[in-house]
Amino acid sequence: MSLETVNRKTQKKWVKELRTLWICGGLQIIAITIVLSLGLPQAEWVLAVLLATLLILAIGVQLESYYRTQNLIYRQDEQALDLVRELFQQNSAQRRQDYRQTEALFSIFSLLKLNHPLPSMREWAISPDLGALIISLVHEHKPKLVVEASSGISTLIAAYCLQQIGEGSVVSLEHEAQFADLSRDQVARHSLQNIAKVIHAPLVPVTIADQTWQWYDIAPHLGILQPIDLLIIDGPPGDLQHQSRYPALPMLFSALSEDAIVVLDDGDRADEQAIVTRWQQEFPGIQVQRIANEKGAFVLRVRKSL
Ligand SMILES: C[S@@+](CC[C@H](N)C(=O)[O-])C[C@H]1O[C@@H](n2cnc3c(N)ncnc32)[C@H](O)[C@@H]1O
Repeated sequence: MSLETVNRKTQKKWVKELRTLWICGGLQIIAITIVLSLGLPQAEWVLAVLLATLLILAIGVQLESYYRTQNLIYRQDEQALDLVRELFQQNSAQRRQDYRQTEALFSIFSLLKLNHPLPSMREWAISPDLGALIISLVHEHKPKLVVEASSGISTLIAAYCLQQIGEGSVVSLEHEAQFADLSRDQVARHSLQNIAKVIHAPLVPVTIADQTWQWYDIAPHLGILQPIDLLIIDGPPGDLQHQSRYPALPMLFSALSEDAIVVLDDGDRADEQAIVTRWQQEFPGIQVQRIANEKGAFVLRVRKSL
């Protein structure tokens, strides 16, 4: 609730209470005027008692109204304070997160020798902390083939790492033609064409265990999609369909190398968590690690030889 809403609500109550205050004041004046005009000594006793009762009641209601008004002011202050506290907490959590992403950016910039500025991260793109995780996984596992579901900054980061290592390539599946072009353009600007290939793979219906999803059309590209040592799953978009990224493992499991690593972004979303649970049931050999980074992520270790 915003401070404005709290104020508007309290203002309405205020107006009501003030109106009561004024009506009671008016009643008191009328009562006093009647008493004076009757000339109290000659007045009927019954009438005098009634008027006195009315006067007392009016004073009581007036006091009650005054009390409620004060209470409203107090409550308004309390609500405003709660709001300020909540905003402060949100702000400090955001600042902590921003700081972590800045730290990750420093790692990225010191570990990669960039030929061109990187496009903006976060929002539609990966966050810097996932970029740093990709760098450390590539350096640790030295994959010969990295395959990505969705292209972007992750394509550039993975390609830069492989360039440093001296071998390996990236194949990135992109369902949107315009973004495939944009990513290809970025790959060229960073002089990584020899390492990274962006494929426009439009979404087509795929049926897995009687359920149909929209997923990348990989049929024409199967030759260059295996064996996958590192699979990075960041597409198709989560809002496209229920458990949008589920098909990645059933569709590509046979193409994974013996000890492949799989990274799934957006692990804080309920859909991604359900997808991982489903994969664990369907592919019992995989080890799952949950990463508490900005968007949440999962790192899965496949052990086909077990
Ligand atoms: C979650 S994003 C992919 C992010 C990518 N893995 C990265 O590291 O930047 C999913 C989709 O966003 C779309 N996308 C790519 N470039 C974009 C851009 N510059 N602006 C908006 N959307 C973009 C693409 O269709 C991509 O498949």
